Amino acid sequence: MTEDGKKRFPEGFLWGTSSAAHQVEGDNRNSDWWEFEQQPGRIANGETSEIACDHYHRYREDFALLREMNQNAHRLSIEWSRIEPAPGEFDSRQIRHYRDVLGELREQGIEPMVTLHHFSSPIWFARKGGWSATGAAHAFMPYVHRVIDELGDLIGLWCTINEPSIYSVNGWITGEFPPGRHSDLGGTYRVASNMHRAHELAYGAIKRRWPDSQVGLSHHKFLFMPASRKRRDHLAAGAAQLAMDRWPVAPGQLHKIVEATSDYVGVAHYWAQLCAFDPRRPKEQFIRRFNVPGAPVTDMGLSSDPAWMPVVLNELRGLGKPIYITENGLATNDDEWRARYLGEILSHVQRAIDDGVDVRGYFHWTNMDNFEWARGYGMHFGLIAVDRKTLERRIKPSGRLYARIAKLNALPTVTH
Ligand code: BGC
Repeated sequence: MTEDGKKRFPEGFLWGTSSAAHQVEGDNRNSDWWEFEQQPGRIANGETSEIACDHYHRYREDFALLREMNQNAHRLSIEWSRIEPAPGEFDSRQIRHYRDVLGELREQGIEPMVTLHHFSSPIWFARKGGWSATGAAHAFMPYVHRVIDELGDLIGLWCTINEPSIYSVNGWITGEFPPGRHSDLGGTYRVASNMHRAHELAYGAIKRRWPDSQVGLSHHKFLFMPASRKRRDHLAAGAAQLAMDRWPVAPGQLHKIVEATSDYVGVAHYWAQLCAFDPRRPKEQFIRRFNVPGAPVTDMGLSSDPAWMPVVLNELRGLGKPIYITENGLATNDDEWRARYLGEILSHVQRAIDDGVDVRGYFHWTNMDNFEWARGYGMHFGLIAVDRKTLERRIKPSGRLYARIAKLNALPTVTH
């Protein structure tokens, strides 16, 4: 309990935000995303990541803002294409850069959760077929070993790979991500299984060198719910969920992966849709997916409701491992909505913890407005606004609220 009688989150609960190198650092020229962005029509409004938030140079200022927001954790990714710009060639200047970044976080009292792959890969790797090519997992490992050896002393929490399901679907089915392929089911499957293998190899390598560290991955939990009580809609929702959770291939498989090669379950949850069986949609596996009527729709065009978080947490509790919410947030310019959403989602998380779900931390997506992949700079997920002309940062009211929550380790009575 706090002094004024509020219920606290467990001691040591991690309060953080989540980010990805390519979305914030800027000038990430050796990455496949950089090349992809230069092709006309790939990114909304013809934007490119270019300088992004210039976090590469302003990380001290950015971490000072996190400190001001009473954060005790931050999830960030290391950019493979900077560390290994050509196969087997490692850039010691870039390794030093990330040592400085991680050291600065620690100095500010902020525990890093480090993602090794968050959607961007070196151009040389993409040219060889990227994650769909035979041997992709092995090609990833020299970089992983380098990070283990040269940065591992600064990392206690590792996230090997970010959201293999989103990555493979967006790159090989919808074409929204590089390599921009469409309806390539075989490719999607190869990507998912190569990423699975890469996770296993990375898990083993990290644990051998740093046995006390916590290693997992971030699984994207898009919820699909039946549109009615009809059995056929239940089956449609089940099939859609299975396809989305294909990484790891099926729920049973998830169990195995988590048991054997994860110290925690990392979950990113944002949205849900309803599913109805529709015989007129053979190309979409006879499933019509649509937003939940009455639920608010974010700027990403998908419905989002805090009440779905308990469904996700309750499903994952069965895996028997600690849970970190590695991402959760809203794309909106309505910051009051963001603040309200934050308060509500965290009260659901708190209730789940009271019910015995072992949630150890919450990482809001994201600290500052940034380059939202194919959607460019138009999507605002941040607790901190970034002026696109001056790159000046300003903590939003939702960020101030989050700062209070983190400081109290409890929800204030009035959350917005
Ligand atoms: C990704 C982030 C992305 C966010 C919002 C997640 O799937 O990991 O990189 O910005 O969703 O779309």
